[in-house]
Amino acid sequence: MTPPTRLVCAGCGATPSDDDPYPFRCPNAGKGDIDHVVTRELHPAGVRFPAGPAGGEPFVRYRGLLHSYYRAVTGGMTDAEFIALVERLDGAVAQLDGRGFLATPFRRDNALSDRLAFSSRGGVWVKDETVNVAGSHKGRHLMGVLLHLEVVEQIGAVSARDRPDLAIASCGNAALAAAVVARAGDRHLRVFVPPDADPAVVARLHELSADVAVCVRAPGEAGDPCYAQLRRELAAGALPFTCQGTENGLVIEGGETLGYEIVSDIAAEGLDHLVVQVGGGALASACVQAFREATALSVVASSPRIHTVQTSGAHPLERAYQRVAEQAASGGIDRALHDAAHHRSTYMWPWETEPKSIAHGILDDETYDWCQVVAGMLSSGGRPLVVSEERLAEANELGRASGFDVDPTGSAGLAGLLDLRADAVVGADERAAVLFTGVRR
Ligand SMILES: Cc1ncc(COP(=O)(O)O)c(C=O)c1O
Repeated sequence: MTPPTRLVCAGCGATPSDDDPYPFRCPNAGKGDIDHVVTRELHPAGVRFPAGPAGGEPFVRYRGLLHSYYRAVTGGMTDAEFIALVERLDGAVAQLDGRGFLATPFRRDNALSDRLAFSSRGGVWVKDETVNVAGSHKGRHLMGVLLHLEVVEQIGAVSARDRPDLAIASCGNAALAAAVVARAGDRHLRVFVPPDADPAVVARLHELSADVAVCVRAPGEAGDPCYAQLRRELAAGALPFTCQGTENGLVIEGGETLGYEIVSDIAAEGLDHLVVQVGGGALASACVQAFREATALSVVASSPRIHTVQTSGAHPLERAYQRVAEQAASGGIDRALHDAAHHRSTYMWPWETEPKSIAHGILDDETYDWCQVVAGMLSSGGRPLVVSEERLAEANELGRASGFDVDPTGSAGLAGLLDLRADAVVGADERAAVLFTGVRR
């Protein structure tokens, strides 16, 4: 019988061993100029997408699509035991953060729709992640990983007595979410932050018992020094509790619960466009994959056009997209993507200068999960947008005037949608969604 889920490296095709309790990175990671990213594939005949609109605990509702669930039941856990595990962890999250994981609101915003001159048939739909755990969508990625870590202990694949430390590089939303989720699972977390990390964020990380280390950028150093320190920590045995699929492919499926919720809510009417802000790319990759899977499972007829948003301060994804699109124009999309995944450094490398923007959460030097995102844009007919600081500020004002306590990173997708409307890429009768991903701090 074909298993309902399986892990495979999207770059080289290698599969992590079934016995590996931590199958987060490709066994060939680092070999060749290949984009090694472990990806969770679904076997459509073996899984069922829950019917009806989104609601309830997402890791319970969409559990049948998670690799951790498959691992749990093949390891001897019952469905009820898996649900009990999610509920126990979620209860601990709620105790620490005042809320657990619950489907977040997704609805047409009438004021924004009018402001962007949509007709009554079209409009702007907002997925509000500012009310999610730790004030952003990031906890979804990490709860997915925590479930896996708990399952491998519960089925006896590893002992709870020798838990390795968890590690993450981040100065904001991902660090806060990681600290809440790690603490809920009673795990020790190391966080690498830049010197200008928000003192309130750092204080909260300490409160949540995370170990915080400040990483300074050496003069002329290319690439993020926090990320470099994370890599050293992982090489020394810590487990990646990060939001980069290159370090831990399983972070993507937790993030996919966001896309699944949108799918559940729009399954009947459909969606024409989804505009996603991109830093490291895990969020956009999760959205691309959620819609691809929902299409394969015939829950929706097709994916919306997926557009991405980066700032004029740094747009490594847009740079990579242009190169792949050029190849695709002559040799076809599949060939261009295959070539890109096998010549990574020709397409993706750290941004040369230290980027600055009011949307500081999407200033990653590299888009780590770029390949899936470029594939998603090319196959859906989306495009990579590079927005100005003025647009980011305008979008944030509009989002806040509409009643969302969103920060400029969190509303960056709306900045992209403003550009798309101005260029008439999105028509007045079309349905477009943005993700308000981060609360103002
Ligand atoms: C609020 C917010 N939105 C979006 C993103 C982008 O997510 P990703 O890094 O997965 O592209 C981030 C990343 O830090 C974020 O903090």
